Amino acid sequence: MRIDVVSIFPEYLAPLELSLVGKARAAGILDLHVHDLRDWTTDRHRTVDDTPFGGGAGMVMRPDVWGTALDGVLGSIAAAPAAPRPPAHLVIPTPSGAPFTQRIAEQLAGEQHLVFACGRYEGIDARVADHYREAGVVVSELSIGDYVLSGGEAAALVVIEAVVRLLPGVVGNPESLVEESHGDAGLLEYPVYTKPPEWAGLAVPDILMTGHHARIARWRRDVALERTVERRPDLARALDPTLLDAADLDTLSVLGWEVRDGAVQPHDDGL
Ligand code: ADE
Repeated sequence: MRIDVVSIFPEYLAPLELSLVGKARAAGILDLHVHDLRDWTTDRHRTVDDTPFGGGAGMVMRPDVWGTALDGVLGSIAAAPAAPRPPAHLVIPTPSGAPFTQRIAEQLAGEQHLVFACGRYEGIDARVADHYREAGVVVSELSIGDYVLSGGEAAALVVIEAVVRLLPGVVGNPESLVEESHGDAGLLEYPVYTKPPEWAGLAVPDILMTGHHARIARWRRDVALERTVERRPDLARALDPTLLDAADLDTLSVLGWEVRDGAVQPHDDGL
């Protein structure tokens, strides 16, 4: 996969040298390039923003500067003329974007080329996303959560880490991707423990010491259900009832939840 990131703070992306993403680059799984947006400015002050039409606070990033930058980055891969240019997917992190989820991370992990446009100030002139959509580029405006950051860089780091760990060969043991939170089961992950068996007066749950794999799997699923109901009732409501077995239904019942009218919901919901 190739990833390009454009930002006025390229140093902000330094963590992409580290850890799992850094290793993916060293292993040749990921070809990552960070660009300074100001390299595409033409004036003495290297201006990237201006005041908003219609008034209001703050500054808006100019579409002309972004257009030159993105044309350059989207085209730069054509430098190898023998190879046809793989279609790029333009990602614009913004608090007004669609929620970034594990499903979207999985979709992005299937792309060959991602380009991140990191805005600052009040955001990027809206014509930039429109223009590239019209030109046939897939554009995703994504939010990493319901809060406002000072720019898209931290959000791009989040999205890139979530995507790159899904690329084949990046996570050593792919099984560790199977049972994690936000996986196919729709449940939060169960709690995990390691040595020592007793720490700070707290013991590891006895069941995990028994070596009884089926009972351990059942316990983990029950705790995952309990956590999901308590911490993320929105995820609990979205569970697919056809994926729940009789033991799941018993556990949900103890927690005050049930399957009613084809949906998972609290016993007393709306009654
Ligand atoms: N830029 C500023 N806030 C953001 C958020 N919550 N998600 C993505 N990009 C952002």
